[in-house]
Amino acid sequence: MKSIGIFDSGIGGITFLREAWQRLPAENFIYFADTGNVPYGTKSPDDVRRLVKEAVAFLSRQNIKVLVIACNTATSAAVYELRQRYDFPILGMEPAIKPALDAAGQKRVLVFSTSLTSQGSKLRMLCSQLDRNQQVDTVPFDELVKSAEAFDFVSPEVKNIICKKLSSVDQNIYGAVVLGCTHFIFYRPLIEEILPLSIPVFDGNRGTLNNLVRILHADQTSAMGRGGQIVFYSSGLPESAEREEMLLRLVRD
Ligand code: DGL
Repeated sequence: MKSIGIFDSGIGGITFLREAWQRLPAENFIYFADTGNVPYGTKSPDDVRRLVKEAVAFLSRQNIKVLVIACNTATSAAVYELRQRYDFPILGMEPAIKPALDAAGQKRVLVFSTSLTSQGSKLRMLCSQLDRNQQVDTVPFDELVKSAEAFDFVSPEVKNIICKKLSSVDQNIYGAVVLGCTHFIFYRPLIEEILPLSIPVFDGNRGTLNNLVRILHADQTSAMGRGGQIVFYSSGLPESAEREEMLLRLVRD
């Protein structure tokens, strides 16, 4: 049976895999983390494009039927080129600006992302389509990628990083926050706890997963029943048993 390929620079895409695993229990997944090169968000667009192309070339040889780029930064840098190169469907991840604008009403929308995503033309184009009244502010938050890669989800240090960032913006003017990097989604509960209830938090996982489910049903390739497996790769090599166990825990918990 063919697998669903999921790609991220590191462990951020696990937040997507966690949801996909729940919703598509019969599917096999191959998860590729480019651990040797993370973070992408502070690299140049050319470097990221090159790294993503190498990773996807590897995944294309693993019998996948669809690829999810579970990384806003990689999507922003490389998704158009990849779609021209391969004939399997390639889904990207982008900041959930539309639902956030709907929820924010007259207030502003704050998008946290990596530096590369916030400077990229893809986000600019998305905003020019959706953000008619120029309500969206983008703020880089690259520090959080490092914490997630260290599996640090709850320490006082990471709480402090998040508190500092959230208090550096004027919360009174915002009506929604978007987590425009899959690594940040691990911190969603913490961020929601710190923000006032009047500021809902959005991320792109659900939208991309809905697209994935739609594609699989349309292709009639989705198997019935349970029994799917997950294979983990780290920059083209099998994950160590120890890390695989840690990743599986994140998927299941
Ligand atoms: N997880 C990635 C994203 O969604 C990027 C993290 C990084 O490598 O900087 O943008």
